[in-house]
Order: sequence, then structure tokens, then C-alpha cells
Amino acid sequence: MPSASVQAFLTEVEQQLGASCLKTDPDLISTHLIDWRGRYQGRAPAVLFPGSTDQVAQVVRLAAKHRVGLVPQGGNTGLTGASVPDDSGDQVVISLTKLQAIRAVDAANKTMTLEAGVTLAKAQDEADALGLLFPLTLPSRGSATIGGNLATNCGGTAVLRYGNARALCLGLEVVTATGEIWSGLRGLRKDNTGYDLRDLFIGSEGTLGIITAAVLALSPKPAALMTALAKVPSVESAVGLLGLAQKKGAAQLTGFELMTKPALSLVSQYFPVLAQPIQGMGSADLVLLEISSPTGEVEAVGLLEDILSEAYESGLVQDALVAQSIQQAQTFWDIRDHITLASSEDGHQIKHDIGLPISCIPDFMVSMQKELEALLPGTRIINFGHLGDGNLHYNLACPINPNVWSDRNRRHEACKQFMQRLEEEAHHRVHNRVVSLGGSISAEHGLGVMRRDEAARYKGPVEMGLMRSIKTALDPLNILNPGKVVLV
Ligand code: FAD
Ligand code: LAC
Ligand code: ZN
Repeated sequence: MPSASVQAFLTEVEQQLGASCLKTDPDLISTHLIDWRGRYQGRAPAVLFPGSTDQVAQVVRLAAKHRVGLVPQGGNTGLTGASVPDDSGDQVVISLTKLQAIRAVDAANKTMTLEAGVTLAKAQDEADALGLLFPLTLPSRGSATIGGNLATNCGGTAVLRYGNARALCLGLEVVTATGEIWSGLRGLRKDNTGYDLRDLFIGSEGTLGIITAAVLALSPKPAALMTALAKVPSVESAVGLLGLAQKKGAAQLTGFELMTKPALSLVSQYFPVLAQPIQGMGSADLVLLEISSPTGEVEAVGLLEDILSEAYESGLVQDALVAQSIQQAQTFWDIRDHITLASSEDGHQIKHDIGLPISCIPDFMVSMQKELEALLPGTRIINFGHLGDGNLHYNLACPINPNVWSDRNRRHEACKQFMQRLEEEAHHRVHNRVVSLGGSISAEHGLGVMRRDEAARYKGPVEMGLMRSIKTALDPLNILNPGKVVLV
């Protein structure tokens, strides 16, 4: 049973917003209580679905009155356990998915004002309909929402050229922890009028305010995109290829993703049809390059071929496939986007989302692999990600046990045990090395609960003190996503 104060809160929410704003049936709300990876399972008596900014503000005022913890949720695709409640049964999920309006578009200013529940895919389509580009893109774009994208300051596969979510947001509307509405929906590229509140809310993972709408910055749409897969003999060569592609392509290089052999082999195993185009390249590390052209396909292909032929001559690349059509380019991206899905099918992994100076990546990979092979013999290092901006998903998968592998349930159980037994030690090893190289333990996914304590180990008292001061100043009752990011 939820506590008396939670029950009183829900009664008042129902009275003020109507019964249709709230779901309590355990079968209907169960998917809101578990994270995408199935790693964090919480409990909650209800999920709320306010339909407007005013209704969000009403809910927050009632939560403050009854001291109830609210967990903001968008598409629930987050990867750090931040979008689901804890297991107390006294937190309530507030879904922003009913906030669906496109409030304004300004093609000349290249901006679009959307509500928080619009999915990233829909935002991309809206920009496209204006003849413009909203360049943020992630494999989860079909479900992830603009509110969630900004609350996590997500990255994705175009950061190299266009920046992360923060760089693509000009203004915000936010419901504060006291239930007031801050209207900061300015479409300005320059605005030095005091503290940057927008930047404080972006990346705060629902702990400082609830984002209800945003002004997004759009870009001119390239006339053509060209994609290639390049087989590289080593990660050092991949870094060399990045330097060459940037020298020749400058800002026209819009994607540079690394997919190591073990990551690709998971896609081949669980999505064999998707992996067909790369069968001829043998088992190897691949880089996916994307070039954008303001003039057209001929120029894009010419630039891509120029980069690849010089890379081939200097031994950075052993083989390459240039997509011959938009459909083939999509199949290359599908391979990349299915690594996380194939990983889920394989079973739980020990996940890392590290950021490193690009120059340190080759040495990191060699030394880390040696250390992990000694610590966890047989572990598969499923390493892939956004090499162009120094962000790798350096994940560790359970050694294959032939006795249980073909049985999905038994395989998943073995992987779960591997993860639970070794996660803490593996995180320390990987993160110690990353931090010693000047890197970050979370480049794009955030802290949530998964990396909250780990971040506190590295940040030091001054940084942690400042974070706590901000949290208590903006959310003095600790009702917004309590227990996530930083403990107060
Ligand atoms: P949710 O998961 O619902 O919430 C995430 C966080 O934001 C939580 O802390 C939640 O409380 C908060 N929140 C949600 N909405 C609001 C709001 N309106 N106001 C305030 N707080 C809010 N991430 C990347 O950065 N790069 C990737 O390449 C990437 N690829 C992915 C691939 C897959 C297959 C999956 C499953 C996930 C991937 N992600 C990636 C992670 C995830 O999709 C992003 O973090 C995304 O931005 C989360 O959006 P969401 O709407 O699902 O947010
Ligand atoms: C990706 C997610 C895991 O890049 O961030 O696929
Ligand atoms: Zn990623």
C-alpha cells in the first residue's frame, strides 16, 4: 500500500485533473516501471499523464504539498535507470508523452518550438517538412522524446558535426519544483542576460525541473548524404582515418562510428539478414563514415572516394564499401543501430559509456584489454560507438558457455549472474583508467542511479558540493526524481 500522503496526493490529482490523467492498473503501468534494459525495476501506485503545461504545474504543486517524489518520464529509453521509480512504492511517475503540440515554426530563424512529448523521429520529420534538418539522431529516435533528449543532454551519431542536444536547444519552458512555469522559449543564438538557466536544466535528468517545451535549432538540409563502411586493421588506423577524413572533408564529415569485431558478430548472430552486406569483408573492425554535401551526390561520392583511396594507399583502410543507394546507406546504419538491440538479445552486459581524448583511445584499448583479460578471462569486449567525438560504449559480455548458450533463458541467467558478480570491480577498473587519462565515465547517457555513486567517487568535494547546492536551491523538498544523479 502507498503511504497516506501518496494516497491523498493521488486523490487530489484525480479531483483536479480528472480520472483520465491517471493510470493505476498494475498491468497498464508495468512497462513504465522498468527501464529499457530490464536492469532497474521499480514500484509506483500510479502513472500520471498531464495533457498541458498547466496540468504539469498543478501536479507538481500537489506533489510539493504532499511531499511526494515525482519521476519524469518520456519514451523510457534511458540507459541509466533514471526514468523509473525506486522500489519504495511511494514515488509516482509523471509521463510527458501527452504533450504533443508543435507550437511554432520559424523557417527564416531556423527554429521550431515543440512540446516535450514529441518523439525525436517526429521532430526530425517536422524539420524535414520545412526543408530543414534537425540533426540530433539516436538509434532510439522512434520512442525517445524531445523532453528526454534534453533532460539527458543526449548525444548520438551526429555530434561530431552538429553537437549534442544542448547545442541544438535555444530555449526551454520548464515547470519548477514549486510548480511555477518558467517561460524561456527564446529562439536566440546569443543571449547573455545572466545565469544560463536553460543549460542548468539540460542534462539534469529530471532532478531540477520538468521540461514541457523547447525551441530547437535547425540546420540547412544537405543536398546529399553518402555513407561507406571501411575495414580498418587497428583502432590506431581508425583514429588515423578520422584525422584524414576531417582534413579532407572538414565539416562535411557528419558521422564516424566504430564497430569492433565482437560488436559486429553479435549483429550477425542475432540479426543475420541485416549483417549480409558485410559478409564479404570478413571478420574485422569497421568504421562507418558519413559525408554530407551541400551540392549533391556526385560531390559527396567524389569526396568519400578521395578519402578512402588515400586511406587505402597509406594502409589505414584494408577494404571499403561505398553505399550505392539511399537504401544501402540505410542498411549500413541499421547494422550500427542494431548493436544495442543484439546485445540485449544476447543478455545483460556490464555497460560503460566513456569519453576520452581521441588521441588516448588506441592506448586505452590495448592496455584495458590486457587488464580485463587477466581479470575476467573469456569476457567479450563489445566496444563500439561514436569514435568521431571520443565516445565509446565499452561493454563487457559474459564468456560464452556452450552448455547453456542455445537456451535463451539459461543464457540470460548466466549473463545476469556475470553482470551482478563482476560489475562493480569492472566499473572501477575501466573508470579508473578512463579518469586517469582525463576522460569521462558518462559521455552521453548520464548518471541516473547507475553511475550516481561512481561519479561521486571521481568528482571531488568541491564539484559534489556545488551539485548539491544547485539541487537543494532548485528543489528544496527533493521531490523531482529523488535519488537520481546526486544524493542530498
Ligand atoms: P526517458 O528514458 O523517459 O528519461 C530519461 C531521463 O530524462 C530521466 O531522468 C527522466 O526523468 C528525464 N526526463 C524525461 N522526460 C523529461 C522531461 N520532459 N522533463 C524533465 N526530465 C525528463 N542516448 C544517447 O545519448 N546516444 C545514443 O546514441 C543513444 N542510443 C540509444 C539506443 C538505444 C537502442 C536505446 C534504447 C537508448 C539509446 N540512448 C542513447 C539513450 C536514450 O534513448 C536517450 O537518453 C534519450 O534521450 C532518452 O529519451 P526518453 O524520452 O526515452 O527519456
Ligand atoms: C548507441 C547507444 C548505446 O550509441 O548510445 O547505440
Ligand atoms: Zn551512443
